[in-house]
Amino acid sequence: MLLFLVYVSSARTLFTRADLEDLLRTCRANNERLGVSGALLYRDGSLMQVLEGEETTVRGLYDRIARDRRHHGLIVLLEKEQDQRQFPEWSMAFRDLSTDAETMPGFNDFLNTPLRAEEFGADPTAAQQLMVTFKKAFSLA
Ligand SMILES: Cc1cc2nc3c(=O)[nH]c(=O)nc-3n(C[C@H](O)[C@H](O)[C@H](O)COP(=O)(O)O)c2cc1C
Repeated sequence: MLLFLVYVSSARTLFTRADLEDLLRTCRANNERLGVSGALLYRDGSLMQVLEGEETTVRGLYDRIARDRRHHGLIVLLEKEQDQRQFPEWSMAFRDLSTDAETMPGFNDFLNTPLRAEEFGADPTAAQQLMVTFKKAFSLA
């Protein structure tokens, strides 16, 4: 069984493109080594990430990420067991929706939905739905 975990958070200060590239480089190298896959969405200082992998590994990684001073206010929206990965080919798929959104087929429905816990907390499956749509849009790109 694999743990599928989705959380949202807020950047302490806006990430620049270079900050995001830096972060992704670390994520991808570490996650590949850890057997963790997933996706990260960023928009205007809001973050949403899905992590999937062996349960203790994902929990350990989440704890490390939660201590990272670059963001705060983490809220776990969804934790569920699954037997198959949603993002098998991605050590960390990424989209900066501040800039990429308009060019992504299938993503228009989400353009006006703030990536905030209040929006997703009430309906955690919405978070997973977002990620699945994200994945589809990614593979079309
Ligand atoms: C929003 C956000 C998401 C992150 N996601 C991951 C991740 O998926 N994998 C990872 O290894 N580090 C991630 N990090 C970075 C970790 O918090 C931490 O800086 C990093 O794992 C330390 O790696 P190092 O010991 O190789 O320097 C994330 C940080 C932030 C702010």
